[in-house]
Amino acid sequence: MPLSQESLAELVAAVARFVKERLVPIEAEVGENDRVPDDVIQEMKNMGLFGMSIPEEFGGLGLTMEEEVHVAFELGHTSPAFRSVLGTNNGIGSQAIILFGTPEQKQRYLPGLASGQIIGSFALTEPDAGSDAGSVRTLARREGDGYVLSGTKRYITNAPKAGVFSVFARTDPNTPGAKGISAFLVPGGLPGIEIGKPDRKMGQHGTYVSDVVFNDVRVPANALLGGVEGQGFKAAMQVLDRGRLHISAVCVGVAERLLADSVRYASERQQFGKPIAEFQLIQAMLADSYTEMLAAKSMVLETARRRDRGDDVNMDASACKMFASEMVGRVADRAVQIYGGAGYIADYGIERFYRDVRLFRLYEGTTQIQQIVIARGLLRPGTR
Ligand code: CAA
Repeated sequence: MPLSQESLAELVAAVARFVKERLVPIEAEVGENDRVPDDVIQEMKNMGLFGMSIPEEFGGLGLTMEEEVHVAFELGHTSPAFRSVLGTNNGIGSQAIILFGTPEQKQRYLPGLASGQIIGSFALTEPDAGSDAGSVRTLARREGDGYVLSGTKRYITNAPKAGVFSVFARTDPNTPGAKGISAFLVPGGLPGIEIGKPDRKMGQHGTYVSDVVFNDVRVPANALLGGVEGQGFKAAMQVLDRGRLHISAVCVGVAERLLADSVRYASERQQFGKPIAEFQLIQAMLADSYTEMLAAKSMVLETARRRDRGDDVNMDASACKMFASEMVGRVADRAVQIYGGAGYIADYGIERFYRDVRLFRLYEGTTQIQQIVIARGLLRPGTR
């Protein structure tokens, strides 16, 4: 059930206040220490932010996609690392369970994911299976009344804190490609799971990504997502369709923040005897950034509404992800240009955003993968 206009406005205002008063002041500290403080994470949990997309019957806020997108715009007004802390629980770390879990699997994991007591993590990518997600090699061989998982997953967001992994593994080694893949819900602490040292990243410091190695990890048969083999790849793709829309909304939020900072700096910074905002070449950059941000925002809102109506938004989620992530890259680049030398100096924070936003064009499908999804959709007989 969608929230009333009033409740949504209250939630969005509460998140905006939290971002402004609690998160923005510690952006530099989080970037330097590579750590989001525990008390801030606890406040996010108290606000229900770990369970935005989880149905109310399991303790979540049960937001529609459009409502979630409005909250994501606000979360984008600060360092993306904060959003990433709660991002997997709302997206790729919980959606497989919401969309395809058995009633028992939902009951077991969703309340903990909604409260933030359990952290969810999405284990699809491997050393040799990135964009080509259908080529995963991690094996889940049937043994007795369960499965034994073996293989290595790479670049797994929030792995060091994960209480449950959605693991995509091959149950049928004789069927190559997508059809042989199944999904499993694997508790984080099982014997045989080895979490690698967090990778050192270009940006988004404060969130952790690492390898996860499954050394003959035994799981019972009821760990198989939805109780059905061979559906893992489609599940992963549908989870990503939703995730891509959420990421697009975060890109819009970050662009709004960078634009606000650029306007303020341009109005204060004096050169040639007046604020640089009075120069038309600066104004052109501000106008371009605003227009592109507005275009992305409109796309994201429209696609979210269509998803809520039950439309297939596979292609359009990719179009949003491609446009919004490329857009925020250009907006960040212009922000550095408007700040000039200060844009390159860490104290001003703009160079941190510039590094942070680079990831948006890579994860949850690169720009090139979005182009493939869009083009295939266009060329599929009967699509348009
Ligand atoms: N919904 C439902 N089914 C889908 C689907 C979707 N969105 N997309 C594909 N499928 C189905 C197809 O219909 C097909 O089914 P049939 O065999 O029954 O016809 C099957 O899945 C295989 O599809 P394709 O033939 O299109 O598969 P492909 O091997 O050519 O790959 C791809 C398609 C789009 C390139 C896909 O591999 C892809 O999206 N790759 C990118 C992966 C990705 O985004 N990785 C990011 C990892 S998550 C992340 O970033 C983690 C993080 O920590 C933040």
